[in-house]
Amino acid sequence: MSSVTVRVPAKVNVQLSVGPLREDGYHDLVNVFHAVSIFDEVVAKESESITVQVTGDWSDQVPTDGSNLAIRAAQALAKHAGRTYGADLVIKKAIPVAGGMAGGSADAAGALVACNELWGLGLPLEDLMEIAGDLGSDVPFSLMGGTAVGTGRGEQLCELPTGGTFHWVFAPADGGLSTANVYAECDRLREESGVEVPWPKLNDSLMEALGTGDAYALGSHLSNDLQVAALNLRPDLAATLDAGRQHGALGAIVSGSGPTCAFLAIDATHARDLAGSLTATGAARTAVAAHGPVQGAILV
Ligand code: C5P
Repeated sequence: MSSVTVRVPAKVNVQLSVGPLREDGYHDLVNVFHAVSIFDEVVAKESESITVQVTGDWSDQVPTDGSNLAIRAAQALAKHAGRTYGADLVIKKAIPVAGGMAGGSADAAGALVACNELWGLGLPLEDLMEIAGDLGSDVPFSLMGGTAVGTGRGEQLCELPTGGTFHWVFAPADGGLSTANVYAECDRLREESGVEVPWPKLNDSLMEALGTGDAYALGSHLSNDLQVAALNLRPDLAATLDAGRQHGALGAIVSGSGPTCAFLAIDATHARDLAGSLTATGAARTAVAAHGPVQGAILV
């Protein structure tokens, strides 16, 4: 096999409950991931060494050195297989960079699936999931897709059945936010307020809304503990969220650590209209309609 192509979705968190800071610098989470139809593509070609090139939207913002998560994923897979392998990776980006939609994690998951195939390793998904968890908290979900509850750092996943398709609009913001900085800001604000941080708990009403496919109920139960911190670092996002609500979004939240804003729409037509209104009024520079859940990293 000389070339392999993998398609990997973005995610939004429909519930992101953040527990107290752990000793290892992470937080225990209840993290309800939902994969949506904005896709990066990872192509892997036979080569002597492991390299990466990035094309498409946002490509100038992605590092192509050893810090690139897709390169690290390919290296980790080769190490797991116990051999030296090479691959030229080409990533076609559509997922916002540092946008709170797991774009880097998607590329890492794509590289794992692509190199597993290119190198003829035939490793089962469980092995790839284990390697993925060491690369980043969101990488296992990028492999799995669908809708799932993540606990621990977010890497321990349990699949959630959903009762239908949900329609979304995503408004990427100019300039990214560092996930680590947003968590740190969340800790700072919590320390300042002196309130004891409760242990994160799954929202039963949200689970029911996902299970029945009730977009109105889901919209009213969306939650993100990182939102206050993200808004503190990027106060301009509040106006974007408000504009979406004014245009009839059933729910409006910052996606993960942000700064992308996520709006839940009534149906596909409403999503298209909402995206059009957000850009026409200048509330967002770009807005993309998408749906979920969709499957995780797959060979195409
Ligand atoms: O796991 P990942 O590399 O994606 O995490 C990036 C950063 O986000 C971590 O270094 C940490 O600061 C923060 N984080 C956290 N708790 C989590 C996940 C991430 O504090 N559960």
